[in-house]
Amino acid sequence: MKRISLTQYLVEEQRKHNSIPAELRLLIEVVARSCKTISHSVGKGALGDVLGALETENVQGEVQKKLDVISNEILLEANEWGGHLAAMASEEMETIHRIPNRYPMGEYLLVFDPLDGSSNIDVNVSIGTIFSVLKAPEGMKDPSEQDFLQPGSKQVAAGYAVYGPQTQLVLTTGNGVNCFTLDREMGSWVLTQRGMQIPAATKEFAINMSNSRHWHAPVTRYIDELLAGDTGPRGKNFNMRWIASMVADVHRILNRGGVFMYPADSRDPSQPGKLRLMYEANPMAFIVEQAGGAATDGKQRILDIQPAKLHQRVPVFLGSRDEVAVVTGYHAE
Ligand code: AHG
Ligand code: MN
Ligand code: MN
Ligand code: MN
Repeated sequence: MKRISLTQYLVEEQRKHNSIPAELRLLIEVVARSCKTISHSVGKGALGDVLGALETENVQGEVQKKLDVISNEILLEANEWGGHLAAMASEEMETIHRIPNRYPMGEYLLVFDPLDGSSNIDVNVSIGTIFSVLKAPEGMKDPSEQDFLQPGSKQVAAGYAVYGPQTQLVLTTGNGVNCFTLDREMGSWVLTQRGMQIPAATKEFAINMSNSRHWHAPVTRYIDELLAGDTGPRGKNFNMRWIASMVADVHRILNRGGVFMYPADSRDPSQPGKLRLMYEANPMAFIVEQAGGAATDGKQRILDIQPAKLHQRVPVFLGSRDEVAVVTGYHAE
């Protein structure tokens, strides 16, 4: 088998579609390199003193794990000096990180969830990194939070790395979705799946069932119908999976279909759901749509939402098109 590296893939993509400017290519390569570094840290576990929690909380009020902070720092350091970015934003930082004056400022904005699935870190279950790339607004001089508040449809690239039995990088620049596997000996990303496609129909769903007593009526109705099996209104038996790492759940869905849900519920009426629009929902929605799937907040396409703030949360329904349509339809009734 002829091995195609991430670099070769990006260069060839640029020739084909003229859609990946050199700056963006460089940026993606630097993010990929950061994910490789994070993967090394993750792989060391207790031997590298990277497990466990810190005493700090992030802006979401979550206790930070050591790896949340380590991964955030790896991404900041790697992406600061390349000259392709104007600013970065992250789940683990209250506000944006401007590129220090000693480095040139580029035209892109990078947003990331440095370590997704933090509750899995200490139990050696799959975790990941999610990222989204936006173009800085024309004529922007001093980047502000406002410049990041663009709908997901404006993303020029998005991807995630999953740190599982293998480390893989899934990437879209708006021309389909491709998966690269980290060759640990060579230290390079090798193209292993081209044009990933999510089947439109599925018999698998992912939701944290322990929240069922807090759900709103459309979600309760939808899940009840799935659970009713082949004698119920849906006429088939559904299976359930919940990894508690969005990256790993979405990765499964990209590979074999399924519907992933983190709905809004009645636990905290001030928060519409748990997942964050800018660095979880948007990049995943972009990837899922590029793979032929769908992503909504129950009412509208996630990629059409105009963000109001950096750490905004949003309900998420994504994956196989047919199922996303059913559960979204129930919200409209
Ligand atoms: P993070 O670790 O980046 O804060 O994100 C965790 C998210 C997401 O990855 C996952 O799907 C969800 O939280 C799990 O939530 P529950 O623990 O409520 O199931
Ligand atoms: Mn978190
Ligand atoms: Mn996350
Ligand atoms: Mn995280």
